[in-house]
Amino acid sequence: MTGRPVPPGAGRLGEPRHHFVEVGSTNDEARRLATDGAPHGTTVTATSQTAGRGRQGRVWVAPAGQALTVSIVLRGLRHPALLPLAVAVAVAETVGDDARIKWPNDVVFVGDDGALRKVAGILCEGRPAEGWAVAGIGLNVALDLADVPDEVAARAATMGRSADELEPVLAELLERLTAALDREPADLLHAWSARDVLAGAEIAWERPGGGDPGAGVADGVDAQGRLLVRTDVGVEALDAGEVHLVRR
Ligand code: BTN
Repeated sequence: MTGRPVPPGAGRLGEPRHHFVEVGSTNDEARRLATDGAPHGTTVTATSQTAGRGRQGRVWVAPAGQALTVSIVLRGLRHPALLPLAVAVAVAETVGDDARIKWPNDVVFVGDDGALRKVAGILCEGRPAEGWAVAGIGLNVALDLADVPDEVAARAATMGRSADELEPVLAELLERLTAALDREPADLLHAWSARDVLAGAEIAWERPGGGDPGAGVADGVDAQGRLLVRTDVGVEALDAGEVHLVRR
């Protein structure tokens, strides 16, 4: 089964479903299942994660039962490079009209003070050679900011829904992700750009793996999902795996 192309839409997202009351990381569990040949759509959820992972080695914190922690096995993607964009669009649409996307894949609200507060984080991982990817999503559906460490609360947001709405929100998210994965690249990029919170903003970045830091004005994404930045020396295309934005 590994590496076999699957037509988009073959196999519903959400089936089969593996739910854990407690697990280390749903992404790790989904990766394990994918390596064992789990079909497209296999979905891992958890009430609580003991080792939730974010991008670039960060920890993902979510109190039990207050957030969606979900990882979905995907096979046969038509445009693998655009997966993070498709997931971000699906999550933002699920959150609502006010949700914005901060490259590479945070879904945020913009506060009255202009500060960005993160309502969802996305961690896409995969083995293209084996034909699978995992889309991991942490979505603060019913987060009580009093239940997370102060440094998380300072930058976090919630959809403000109740805990018993986690399942309906998951159902909507999976439906929107199915649709986003089926969109033509130009249409997907258009939807992503309409929510791009960095467009026109001055940004700065570092390269944790080594290399020069930089600064410039964000100017959308290209067809590989790289962030385009106008700098003094021209336009640079930043790869999400190589840079990390300095916080604004
Ligand atoms: C980030 O913002 O850096 C990405 C956060 C991704 C968190 C989700 S929660 C479900 C899945 N399991 C994990 O361990 N991480 C992702």
